[in-house]
Amino acid sequence: MTTQTAPGTARSLNEVPGWFRAIDQDLFRVLLDATATEPGDLLEMGCYLGKSAILLGEHLRAEETFTVCDLFGVESHGLYSRRDTLAFYRQTLTREAFEANYLAFHENLPVIVHGRTTALASRIERDSCRFVHIDASRTYEDMSGDIDIARSVLRKHGVVAIDDYRTEHVPGVAAAAWEAVFTKGLRPVCLSAAKLYATWGDPEPFQRAVRSWAADRVDRVVADEKIDGDPVIRVINAIPGPRGARRLALELLPPVVSRALVRPKTGR
Ligand SMILES: C[S@@+](CC[C@H](N)C(=O)[O-])C[C@H]1O[C@@H](n2cnc3c(N)ncnc32)[C@H](O)[C@@H]1O
Repeated sequence: MTTQTAPGTARSLNEVPGWFRAIDQDLFRVLLDATATEPGDLLEMGCYLGKSAILLGEHLRAEETFTVCDLFGVESHGLYSRRDTLAFYRQTLTREAFEANYLAFHENLPVIVHGRTTALASRIERDSCRFVHIDASRTYEDMSGDIDIARSVLRKHGVVAIDDYRTEHVPGVAAAAWEAVFTKGLRPVCLSAAKLYATWGDPEPFQRAVRSWAADRVDRVVADEKIDGDPVIRVINAIPGPRGARRLALELLPPVVSRALVRPKTGR
């Protein structure tokens, strides 16, 4: 989480509070470009203080609409998934702060839906979007509903990014994400530590775009995996230096080899 700066004063994305990591910023850019073969709208569920929304806004083209949806700390719009989460958002998050941050980077605000993501089902047209970011509630029920909305509003050659798909303290997100893969036709494109990127179309052109971007980067590595026979790629932060090399080896090697690397040294 980036430390707080006063709303509207950030000069770079790094200074905007939020959890949007550099590797995911890269993947958003690559996949937003890859979905730009024809016009399509952008949608973000859960924008907090605007960190990921500001980047999405950079990729918005003249004929496209960008919609964000958030509770902005107002409990009357519905219950947050966790009480401690609500307390945290109440201290830091207002719609005004989001707007000030966004307008520090862009001339116009996106369309703002101030309420629960369930409101989006009737507001966003079917097959209208090329990119959807799901980063709102962490309950299984809400996340499963958010994925259904994404499925309806995304066009076939579109990408959905699902945050926290493997985070320990929010197991409902993982349950909803993998449920969508095995029962709702969602096809994984790639995985970062924080987000699952997937499509209801053909993942191959998106995977090609990610590979070709990573090939030019010394600080990013892709690893090939399969899920039920289908290729999926993991995108890993390759931190230079000896400790970074060990960590990277742990990420890339098969479990039996990596277990040997972490085994504590025994005394002789
Ligand atoms: C993790 S933050 C989003 C972070 C943001 N995308 C970023 O990268 O900086 C989650 C946001 O979802 C919002 N939220 C939680 N439950 C929601 C719901 N059911 N409907 C709409 N927004 C919700 C919260 O108010 C919060 O701003």
